Amino acid sequence: MIVLKTTRELQIMREACRISAGALSVAGKAVEPGVTTAEIDKIAYDYIRSQGGEPNFLHYNGYPATACISINDEVIHGIPGTRVLKQGDIVSIDLGAKFEGYNGDNAATFACGDVSEEAKRLMDATREALYEGIRAAVYGGRIGDISHAVQAYVEARGYSVVRDFVGHGVGASLHEAPEVPNFGRPGHGIRLVPGMTLAIEPMVNLGRPDVRVLDDGWTVKTTDGKLSAHFEHTVAITADGPVILTTC
Ligand code: MF3
Ligand code: CO
Repeated sequence: MIVLKTTRELQIMREACRISAGALSVAGKAVEPGVTTAEIDKIAYDYIRSQGGEPNFLHYNGYPATACISINDEVIHGIPGTRVLKQGDIVSIDLGAKFEGYNGDNAATFACGDVSEEAKRLMDATREALYEGIRAAVYGGRIGDISHAVQAYVEARGYSVVRDFVGHGVGASLHEAPEVPNFGRPGHGIRLVPGMTLAIEPMVNLGRPDVRVLDDGWTVKTTDGKLSAHFEHTVAITADGPVILTTC
């Protein structure tokens, strides 16, 4: 069931998303050689708490941290810990906050020091693919329009979209209907209407689309060991067009 949000609910979601975006920003600024992923996680936790929010990934299906921090060939759901970031790593941080019963969700990939041109291009393309998807998230369109816009942009650049994980509705629950795949056909899928709030989140691989889950039960890596990037915003569908809620 797709839950449409009222204007009042959207106001609360905007606050949850503002906290989520602020936490992502402070976490991203902490990315530098020598820092551990647990230190970045704590910065995100403290920020969300300081803003009156709750980290909504923490304990979600048993997940043990505030943020998912996924490095290089890790795609998503990397668990923060003692790993030390190195110059040249690309670091995907995914996190969200709950505020007054509503959730925000956002992600971005950050460069640790100087990274390769290849890594920069992948990060830029993934960020742009997210914005292509957002531009297609218009009243009267369909989910497949978003999916196709992301896929077409990514594949035109020789990259691949991850198919085993998808974007999603977001609201009182972190994951709600509908699914928002990063591949699909324009004009297909459910119709987009005002009040829908969607987490659009391309996961883009430099090489093949295939991924596998590590023995920790969480970390998802590319099967070919090549780099992956991830950008995500929570977006509201309105009569006046898509509105990105996860901004500071
Ligand atoms: N960030 C994921 C998403 O974008 C959700 C992670 S759930 C967790 O949908 F349990 F891994 F935290
Ligand atoms: Co999400």
